[in-house]
Amino acid sequence: MLGSSRSGGNTETLARLAAEQLPPGTQQRWLDLRDLPLPDFEDRRHSDGHTSPTGHAAILLEATLAATDVVVASPLYWYAVSTSTKRYLDHWSGWLETPGVGFERRMAGKTLWGVTALADPDPGAADPLAGTLRSAARYLGMRWGGVLLGNGSKPGDVLSDTAATARAKDFFD
Ligand SMILES: Cc1cc2nc3c(=O)[nH]c(=O)nc-3n(C[C@H](O)[C@H](O)[C@H](O)COP(=O)(O)O)c2cc1C
Repeated sequence: MLGSSRSGGNTETLARLAAEQLPPGTQQRWLDLRDLPLPDFEDRRHSDGHTSPTGHAAILLEATLAATDVVVASPLYWYAVSTSTKRYLDHWSGWLETPGVGFERRMAGKTLWGVTALADPDPGAADPLAGTLRSAARYLGMRWGGVLLGNGSKPGDVLSDTAATARAKDFFD
């Protein structure tokens, strides 16, 4: 799930570098949340309840459930995931409550991974983002794969972060 607000950014570059190392034939599906914008999430748990998603939400739900591994590739925005990524995660809460979906049961056992790019030279700046994803994985009984961090501001910068590009090579091992 690509969650940057621009195309070809550092997060996507780093994610694609990591994915290049997957064994040949590994099935991958890349979805850009900019192509599949979700409506603002509305908490209907304690009112009329959540109904089966339609439109982009239905596509994202189907893709999420079909995956063995969900990779959230979000730039670091204000120490956290991007808005589109957060909205996608908020919709998980609706899907958890949608009758007939079995979201909790079907997410359990999948692996959640994070990939992020940040401008800050201190990798600790991404701790809140990593904590969000790690805790979400725990909440849903998912395995936590960890977060791949890369440094950069303008697109392409991350390729100069040699530690990150080296880590990308065995991130999904
Ligand atoms: C709205 C916004 C908020 C940002 N917040 C942070 C931040 O909190 N910490 C940081 O290190 N960099 C921050 N940055 C810089 C981006 O993380 C950095 O440019 C990154 O490479 C963007 O990822 P992308 O190239 O995949 O879009 C921010 C950038 C934007 C546009």
